[in-house]
Amino acid sequence: MTFFVTGATGFIGRHLCARLTASGQPVLALMRDPTRLASFRDQVTALGGQGTLIDAVPGDLDHPGVTAAALPSLRAVIHLGARFAWRMDAAVARRTNVDGSLAITALARQAGCRLVYVSGFMLANAAHLQRLAINTATPARTDWPRLYRRAGAYEASKLEAAFRVRDFAAAHALDWVEVLPATVAGHSRSGDLDSAQPLHTLIDNLARGRLMRVPGSPAHWLPLVPVDTLAQLLAAAALAPAPPPRLLALDPDTPTLQGMLAVLADTLGRRAPRRYLPIPVLAALLRLPGLPTLMNTAPEALHFIQPTRFDTRVTQHFLATSSITMAPIEHVLRASAQHYLRTQAGSTADTQPV
Ligand SMILES: NC(=O)c1ccc[n+]([C@@H]2O[C@H](COP(=O)([O-])OP(=O)(O)OC[C@H]3O[C@@H](n4cnc5c(N)ncnc54)[C@H](OP(=O)(O)O)[C@@H]3O)[C@@H](O)[C@H]2O)c1
Repeated sequence: MTFFVTGATGFIGRHLCARLTASGQPVLALMRDPTRLASFRDQVTALGGQGTLIDAVPGDLDHPGVTAAALPSLRAVIHLGARFAWRMDAAVARRTNVDGSLAITALARQAGCRLVYVSGFMLANAAHLQRLAINTATPARTDWPRLYRRAGAYEASKLEAAFRVRDFAAAHALDWVEVLPATVAGHSRSGDLDSAQPLHTLIDNLARGRLMRVPGSPAHWLPLVPVDTLAQLLAAAALAPAPPPRLLALDPDTPTLQGMLAVLADTLGRRAPRRYLPIPVLAALLRLPGLPTLMNTAPEALHFIQPTRFDTRVTQHFLATSSITMAPIEHVLRASAQHYLRTQAGSTADTQPV
């Protein structure tokens, strides 16, 4: 029995594939460009997995055509694939993130296996959902086009997809787990962090002196989860006999944003910002032409910096019963910043154990 993974070639997906194959589990990766299979296998092996246990299934979330009949018997479908970018066109984001997710959910149903579905931690922020005027009781009644304009296409499509997948799963009594990850931090040992990841942008802005003020207030934070903990959690959610239906993957000990920037700045040898810039003021500044590029900050990214605290007890219990330990987040932040410094110096010769 094999795992079917979408988004396998992405940052989280690569670490998940390393995790699964390191323990001998074969993986079928949905790949838009299967000619990349050989280099993808090498990447997974370099991360501590067994790349030879991976095979490609050619396919595109924008043109779903893969059927369960064409696949071997599946242990689970793990759906990570998404367009993850700021300033996306709404129709483009919807097609991949909403329609694509529904197609993968239907595939898991056809295959008669568990679905591990990856949404995002803001779905656990009730105040945020209310502010965005999402009708959580009857999501279909939400004014989605307005929400795409307000929240930006990435976040809106992730929210819409999660509500639509929840409806489908309930209607078909699907065996499924929803994992809601916080912003992903680097690998807790190697610090490995893709340059396209939001935390990398924050580190880069700090290193280049673009962050003179702390966005928000002393209560604001950007909750994090190390990529290796998330990969282990996803694998455990796929394998456990009866996992909780929803797992919020978030380290509640993540410091406030000011505290996080202080740790990163110390590792980078920079001065940490101390004064605050309220989010509405920053959002207004970012509406000025050219400023998002100059500050290397997209207005949409600000939503994830917020003061809400979350209840992670269910996940903490699942991590403990699955023997998964989360590395201290300060250590993870330092490892991520050190990895950034090494890549800037042109040396990526890390060992990246699973
Ligand atoms: N990173 C975070 O901080 C974070 C936090 C919360 C939730 N998440 C969620 O976690 C998931 C993975 O995130 P990530 O950070 O690993 O993203 P990523 O590095 O951008 O990877 C995205 C993956 O999706 C694939 N993909 C994109 N469009 C596709 C399409 N049309 N058809 C098939 N595959 C497609 C990409 O394939 P190619 O290699 O072909 O481009 C890639 O494998 C996403 O669902 C994201 O919303 C991420």
